[in-house]
Formats: sequence, structure tokens, C-alpha cells
Amino acid sequence: MINTGKRIFSVDDLSDGEISRLFFASRNINSLWQHRAKKNEEAVLMTAFFEPSTRTRLSFEMAAHRLGVRILSFHAGSSSMSKGENEDETINNLLALKPNILVIRQSKKLDSQGFINNDESAIINGGDGTNEHPTQALLDCFTLLNYFKADNLAGKQVAIVGDVLHSRVAHSNIKLMARLGASISLIAPNIFKMTNCRGPIQQLSAYEEINEEIDVVMCIRTQKERLNGLCFDESDFYKNYGLTIDRFLKLGKQCIVLHPGPMNLGVEIDQVVARHPRSLINQQVQNGVLVRAALLDYCLA
Ligand code: NCD
Repeated sequence: MINTGKRIFSVDDLSDGEISRLFFASRNINSLWQHRAKKNEEAVLMTAFFEPSTRTRLSFEMAAHRLGVRILSFHAGSSSMSKGENEDETINNLLALKPNILVIRQSKKLDSQGFINNDESAIINGGDGTNEHPTQALLDCFTLLNYFKADNLAGKQVAIVGDVLHSRVAHSNIKLMARLGASISLIAPNIFKMTNCRGPIQQLSAYEEINEEIDVVMCIRTQKERLNGLCFDESDFYKNYGLTIDRFLKLGKQCIVLHPGPMNLGVEIDQVVARHPRSLINQQVQNGVLVRAALLDYCLA
């Protein structure tokens, strides 16, 4: 097996060609599990999550399991971090063990400068602070392309609602959706507005300002752990920015809903909307395994 030492820290680390090949591979991966399982017997995926996770870690691990890749899951609580070793040193130790692929989630921006030289292990960003979450954007866009039965998002209007300032999911999605041709509206109270917006993006302050023809609303969780003292009231937020069933039904019958999870029901989204037939939230979770499997397969190629 040849290890390619790929670094996928941002959606920008993948070319348009690589992204469309990954989407193609995600659609076809279900027919390849057995073949890959034989080929990958010696391969190891290591997951190092220094922040909590349900979907991202488990879907990477599920994808690896299906591909026949062995999984070593690092747990900070039972590691030498409890003896004072810091995060960077810990990551360097994991890299010294030379897994074929290391998936890292941490609360600051990933920076390979501090890493030991290891061009044998691919490194994938599983979400770094407020910066990026490339595999979430890949799976969200894959979910949309499948739903619209399209190769791109040209002509589609997407609204991302909530704490876009601190959300790594929003940051990666804005980049990838724009590359795929979508026009994007960000709806947020002033405290969560982005300061340096580029590309086909408009910033709005209320649901009522969205065009009725909107195709997609993506709700995101307020990143309470990253607010650094900013004042945030959940019930106020729900009143003004929560996707209630009334607001949803006003948006037009074509509009679908996404949420990367974890969902705070009754804060950014109502349970009835989350379970609505036009909610693709479960689809996102399922597609997470396919897209991450395609990416692991690509890194092991
Ligand atoms: C997000 C994350 O951790 O970045 N969730 C995810 O990975 N599916 C979003 C969040 O924490 O709000």
C-alpha cells in the first residue's frame, strides 16, 4: 500500500476535480466494501478528537470499519494528557506511530508547522476551532447534489442561519457551496455576522428578508463554547432566528432543511421542522459515512 501523506485541512485543499471524483466515489462506495476490506487489512485509521463529537468521529470509524481498515481511537481522558502532556505533543506522538490516516478535531486552527515530519500519514481535519470542517461541507453538498440530482448547485439559493461567525461548518460550506455555484445568504443577529464575506454572499438580519424561492435552509448551532463572554439568550434567539414550523411553511414548498448537528431543538430549529419530510438531516448523517469512506479510500489509494 502506498501512503500519500495527504493533508486535508480545508475544502481548499481539494481541487474541483478531486471533489467531483469524491462525490462520484461516494455514490458508488456501497458496491466496493468487500473488495476494499480485503485490500485494507493492514491499514490503520487513528481518530484523535480533543473536542466532543458524535457524528463525525463515529462516521469516520464506521466508514473505516466498512472499508476493512483497523481503527485506533485516541481518548484524551485516559491518555498522558492527564499527566500534563499538551495537545501538540500528543498529536506528534500519534504521528510517530504512523497510522495511515489520522483524523484530528481540536479547538484551535490546525497547523502542520508544529507537527513532526511524517509524510506517510494522511491527516484529515475533523473540525478545527472556528476555522473549518471540510468533511461536513463535503457531506452537506453531496446530500444537496443527490437531492437535486445535479452535478453542481448553480442557480440554487441557500440560507445559512445562526452563529455563522463561529461555525466551522458554515465557513467550509460557504466556500464549497460557492464553488459549486450556489448563491448564499447568511442570516444572523449582529453579534454573529461575519466580518469578511467574499463571493456570492449576502448578509441578512431576519428570515423575513429571505426570498420565498429559497431552495435550502441550513440551521446551525450557536457555538456557546466559543462566545468568549458574548451575551446570548436562547429564548430570544428562538423567537427571532429559530426555524419554527410557521417560518418554514412560509418559505415555499421547494425549500428543504439541513442541520449538521448537534441540534438544539427549540433553539435554532423546532422538532416538527427537524422531522418534516423536507428535512434531510438524517440523510446528512447517513451520507457522512459514504463521503468519509470515499475520502479514506482516496487517502489510501
Ligand atoms: C459540528 C462541529 O462539531 O463542528 N458538528 C458536526 O461535526 N457535525 C457543529 C457544532 O458543533 O455545532
